Amino acid sequence: MTIQLADFPEVTKGPGKPETYKGVQILRHDPCGAEILNVDLAQPTADGTFQAVMDIWHESLVICFRNQDITAEDQLRFGRRVGDLSVIHTPEFKGEDPAIMYISNVKENGEYVHALPVGEMMFHIDQCYQQRPAKATILYSIKIPKAGGNTLFCDLQRAYDTLDEKTKEFIAGLKVLHVYDYDAGATHTAATVADDAPRYVHPLVRTHPVTGRKSLYVNRLMSREIVGMDRAESDRLLGRLFDHIENPDFVYEHHWKLGDLLMWDNRCTAHARRDFDPTEDRLMRRLTVLGEQPV
Ligand code: SIN
Repeated sequence: MTIQLADFPEVTKGPGKPETYKGVQILRHDPCGAEILNVDLAQPTADGTFQAVMDIWHESLVICFRNQDITAEDQLRFGRRVGDLSVIHTPEFKGEDPAIMYISNVKENGEYVHALPVGEMMFHIDQCYQQRPAKATILYSIKIPKAGGNTLFCDLQRAYDTLDEKTKEFIAGLKVLHVYDYDAGATHTAATVADDAPRYVHPLVRTHPVTGRKSLYVNRLMSREIVGMDRAESDRLLGRLFDHIENPDFVYEHHWKLGDLLMWDNRCTAHARRDFDPTEDRLMRRLTVLGEQPV
């Protein structure tokens, strides 16, 4: 199946009124997403502030610290407080630390030198094809194009909550095979995947280990089949669930500014990226934090 993001309507809802939670100033977005306005990650964060940030993250699923001027070490310090960092699986893309990966379209000698260089990416969940997928992804913007390259987030909890009761009953207990063929890229679902492409089976509905909320744990790029179901029926059900989670009402669209540090919860969101002008640089520094095996 080819990418639909070019046809995906721009989600332009503004944030709500500014609020303060335990000293942290926030602007909440709907259905998910919160901007954090007064935390400087170049400095170690006090315990109370860090806990408040984590509470906001668990409630809002995606948080953005605006106006950050941080080094790789600052980003690592914050990431290590969130949890154990994952080591990058594609050694050619490792940054200055085994947990750092740069995502960019920057070229050297005419060749891309970083991961995920090309425009659009379909909705996906980081590392859902592993036994312990990422719980958090932490992405810091260093260069951004004048337009495009927005990252979109589906709220998979809202998506689950809005299913009818019959569907909730039908899907309870189902399991899904997730596969990612690195060579096939992230702009489309590969018709066939390499035999050695990493894969893992997880529950279709997973429960968040902190909040106890349920999410529809599927995505168009990597979720390939429902285990034990006739293939045509599995394709139909997955197609219906992909369309459901990608309802613009369940999506927050992040318009990047320089110095944004975004952290999203992969246990309850799927994300996609819009296309951008390939002649303009887009450079992001990324960490992922290891999560639990989904249940
Ligand atoms: C990612 O999917 O990890 C990258 C998202 C982005 O570049 O906006």
